Amino acid sequence: MKYGYFDDQKREYVITDPKTPVKWINYVGSLAFGGIVDHTGGALICRGDPALNRITKYIPQLPSSGFKGETLYLRFKQGDRYRVFSPYFVPTLDPYDLYECHVGLGYTRIVSKFYGIRTEVTVFVPLGDSRLISDIQITNVSDHPMHIDAIPVVEYTHPDALKQFTNADWVPQTMQSKAYPDEAGMIILAQYPFMYKETRVNYFASNRRVSSFESDRRRFLRDNECGTWANPLSLQEEELSNYEALRGDNIAALLHHLGTIRPGETTKLITQLGQTESIENALPAITHYRDTEQVEQALREMSAFWDSYLSRLQIETPDASMNSMLNIHNPRQCHTTKNWSRYVSLYQLGLGARGIGFRDSSQDVMGILVHMSQQGKELIRQLLHVQKRDGSAMHQFNPLTMIANEGDSRDLPDTPKYYADDHLWIILAITAYLKETEDFAFLKEVIPYYEKGKDGHPIEFQVLDHMQRAIEFTTHNVGAHGLPLLGFADWNDTVNLRAGAESLFVANLCGTALLEMMELAQHLGDTEALARYASSYETMKQRVNQCAWDGEWYVRYFDADGSPLGSRSNPQGQIYANGQSWPVISGFAPADRARTALESVYRRLNTPNGIKLSTPGYNAFDPAKGGITTYPPGVKENGGIFLHANPWVVIAETILGNGDRAFEYYKQLNPAAKNDRIDEFECEPYAYPQNILGDEHPQFGLARNSWLTGTASWTYQAATQHILGIIPTYAGLRINPCIPSKWDGFKATRVFRNATYRIEVRNPDHVCKGIKSVKVDGKAIGDNAVAIVGDGKAHLVEVIMG
Ligand code: GLC
Repeated sequence: MKYGYFDDQKREYVITDPKTPVKWINYVGSLAFGGIVDHTGGALICRGDPALNRITKYIPQLPSSGFKGETLYLRFKQGDRYRVFSPYFVPTLDPYDLYECHVGLGYTRIVSKFYGIRTEVTVFVPLGDSRLISDIQITNVSDHPMHIDAIPVVEYTHPDALKQFTNADWVPQTMQSKAYPDEAGMIILAQYPFMYKETRVNYFASNRRVSSFESDRRRFLRDNECGTWANPLSLQEEELSNYEALRGDNIAALLHHLGTIRPGETTKLITQLGQTESIENALPAITHYRDTEQVEQALREMSAFWDSYLSRLQIETPDASMNSMLNIHNPRQCHTTKNWSRYVSLYQLGLGARGIGFRDSSQDVMGILVHMSQQGKELIRQLLHVQKRDGSAMHQFNPLTMIANEGDSRDLPDTPKYYADDHLWIILAITAYLKETEDFAFLKEVIPYYEKGKDGHPIEFQVLDHMQRAIEFTTHNVGAHGLPLLGFADWNDTVNLRAGAESLFVANLCGTALLEMMELAQHLGDTEALARYASSYETMKQRVNQCAWDGEWYVRYFDADGSPLGSRSNPQGQIYANGQSWPVISGFAPADRARTALESVYRRLNTPNGIKLSTPGYNAFDPAKGGITTYPPGVKENGGIFLHANPWVVIAETILGNGDRAFEYYKQLNPAAKNDRIDEFECEPYAYPQNILGDEHPQFGLARNSWLTGTASWTYQAATQHILGIIPTYAGLRINPCIPSKWDGFKATRVFRNATYRIEVRNPDHVCKGIKSVKVDGKAIGDNAVAIVGDGKAHLVEVIMG
């Protein structure tokens, strides 16, 4: 365990070496206010939208050693100079006696020891609040008294994060800072671009007397910025210059003389970085959080939130790393993707117009329904606002303005402007929400489509209508084989074929969505709709099986000229994983084809690091295929291991009853298992990455794009609903595990519709799948769907497999 270890008791990963292979991060707060804190205290913070309202200037491309957005300096006198260092290691890079970064649920705590000073800083955003708190405790662990000064610093960005990098004339001419002293000498340093002076003001404040401050980067670093963040020359002076920046690169540095700290003594400092309409309005809250007790209370509340979030499903299986992932890290990552979609990470930089992805967030919702179904509903509602009248969806939207766009298809003027899969995912999200909550009133809620009517009024329809139109868009927009047209792309963003190409993935996703619509129609007693959907399902199933079977697997696309992609007749891109998992998930594949197709996945696509998305990789750029050919073979969608698609194969294997293989696939993805060969993997071992280089690439096994990936939601669903088989249905909770045959069983606690189920599964015959008996509170029940009207009580569910 080279860079750190899991502390499941505290629900933390503890990084013990700041020189991790790449930056490792944590998320704090939410999209409403929050962002990223990296393992050496750098912070990318925004409010409401990282593109339009960003607060700190964190440049992810800078080396790990460089200052990014926020840091803390401490100093003490050594001879006639100050010894200045950062307890975060970066940016001063002093030798440390102890360094630990505790990556916790909603907080990061850096504990370090330098020069006889132990510092513990907890960084977090109080629940529902709009400020980043740093709770700093400094202890003198030397044998002599020390005079210590603390200088916390942030660097601001223009709120329009892209403008910060594209316009170095306008931005610096507008950035200003102003100090608000109060009676206690506790200065609040405010910052704003001129246009937001009276509406949107950033501030940095602490709970101790500020002796002096600096708001101009140039004055802080000194020597016309030949001073550095590693050695800011102004910190060799007794005081900072108290300069209120009129332009330029704005920072906030607050110098505190903490006085003499005796050996063994601890002193505290709390800083807060927030945003408000006016400092006057913010004063009561600023005062509130200057109180150590209130900060501790906020930390306790956050911890209680996570207790309650996680407690809705806890499991105990014979596999310790599965337990750790499912009880802590995977649901936490689902919370993160639900919050941030693919908007801001160290890889997706939250600049410009990416915003919230329609398909991405529709899938993310499914990962948090167990834990926070109401927030899931809110996100579904927001997504439906950008669905179009014809049933298709805008590809992404900005959460602050609700302005949507057509994604990358805008870059290629001659291509279709819709993504063929987007709108179908929302059906899966809505039915999953209904199964979790029974909130059928939601189907009648009226939500406008994205376009306005001719009169400028919104065109509003019920949620059920949104779902119907989504299906119709796909069943109406078909190509030469009667299969859904690809549009600009389907789930695989990077295969961009000419207009007229067809997608087998969308055919199967549509099949899956139709199954959901059929089940819903049946539940609602709408026989006419049921018949209609069933007939569309059969038609699509027939078409898929008539034209897409390639002998040992299904093809993935038909190009505009009718030629297949993902066929043995292709020199590259012969077989695609999604081409095989989805016909099983949709139920389109007959049993023999399902088996053969999944065997082909194992044979052709599986590696010890996960299943490749396709193989062999395309070996040269080909504009007729699109983005996939911009990557070298083995990278990302072009023959790389695209983790998001792996749990779909897991699910398909469980449908066939193959629990051993499903688990093998599940386990080989677990980032925690990479802890011991992390120099090859490089990313955080506590979050799933989006991609790992495939075996055609010399750096096979290298992960990138951690955190914001559909892998979180789908791995969680695959593990909890398909391997452990704890499945919410309209009728109740269904228990139908598909586990490794060697397991003796497992236990789970699941809160579902206001009752708690203590589930105990035993597997005396060592099967993978199959139920012999189910008892609820000691009484045998007929089938394996447990239906208890939420009585707020705990019930024992005993399942015997066989
Ligand atoms: C990225 C995109 C996602 C897409 C996937 C595969 O993760 O965010 O929308 O489905 O790549 O191309």
